[in-house]
Amino acid sequence: MACALCEALVKNISPKTVLLSNRTAQKAENLAKKLGCEFADSKSVAEKCRYIFLGVKPQTLGELASEIRPCLEKRESRFILVSMAAGRSTGDIAELFGEYPVIRIMPNVACAVGEGMILCAKNSLVTCEEYKAFFKAMDKSGRLDDIPERLIDAASAVSGCGPAFVYEVIESLADGAVACGVPRDKAYLYASQTLLGSAKLMLETGKTPAALKDSVCSPGGTTIQGVRKLHEGGLSSALMEAVIASYEKTLNI
Ligand SMILES: NC(=O)c1ccc[n+]([C@@H]2O[C@H](COP(=O)([O-])OP(=O)(O)OC[C@H]3O[C@@H](n4cnc5c(N)ncnc54)[C@H](OP(=O)(O)O)[C@@H]3O)[C@@H](O)[C@H]2O)c1
Repeated sequence: MACALCEALVKNISPKTVLLSNRTAQKAENLAKKLGCEFADSKSVAEKCRYIFLGVKPQTLGELASEIRPCLEKRESRFILVSMAAGRSTGDIAELFGEYPVIRIMPNVACAVGEGMILCAKNSLVTCEEYKAFFKAMDKSGRLDDIPERLIDAASAVSGCGPAFVYEVIESLADGAVACGVPRDKAYLYASQTLLGSAKLMLETGKTPAALKDSVCSPGGTTIQGVRKLHEGGLSSALMEAVIASYEKTLNI
């Protein structure tokens, strides 16, 4: 995830100002070479960087904290911690790393192609200017949205886990087309482009999904027959339950 965010970041700011580190150093070195960033170790990042992205798994945050906490304590210049760890609050980050400004983000895989959804929250130590600058720097990764921190886990059950649900939908739409005789590669193209276009139409017109669905369901027509089958098969309940189950799991990480 950190790689995807970094690729987007260097479209807005000079790669020379980005320091990359990783436990397996070779990975960071390779990415640094590819993007023209500087390669470093975690301690140097903690000593020098203004925005410090913590790209490790939630269970590994403690290990990283013990490694860089002494460097953070010695710092005189201002810095902001950026956490992307699922299920970890800004309070959890402060407990592990110290009482510093924290921006908490919850990105999704589509950041890799500049169409991600990044949920953002901050603690009270981050200034509005710093938060704004962060949004601007990250905007090539997709859409960023400020959300009250208490809602971030619930929202990420849609935007963070959602890509997997959507791929299931694409797979099934494509299976339907294959069953009707369409070659598999074409079925994937038609299903995925249809999802992309439908989502874009909704975002750009600001219309509700219900209104857009009605606009393609002519009375007595073919599409409403398909919609009838979706209701019969319990699609809407299955998707709602998927979001709720993912949310409940996040609460127990
Ligand atoms: N993937 C997603 O779709 C997604 C979505 C939203 C949020 N996130 C969040 O993003 C974070 C990373 O997830 P991921 O899927 O990108 O995991 P990942 O592919 O396993 O990447 C984690 C990286 O952290 C490195 N690392 C572990 N301990 C370290 C340490 N002490 N010092 C320096 N580097 C260390 C690992 O290095 P090694 O190469 O040595 O293992 C690895 O490259 C998680 O907190 C996750 O909750 C991920």
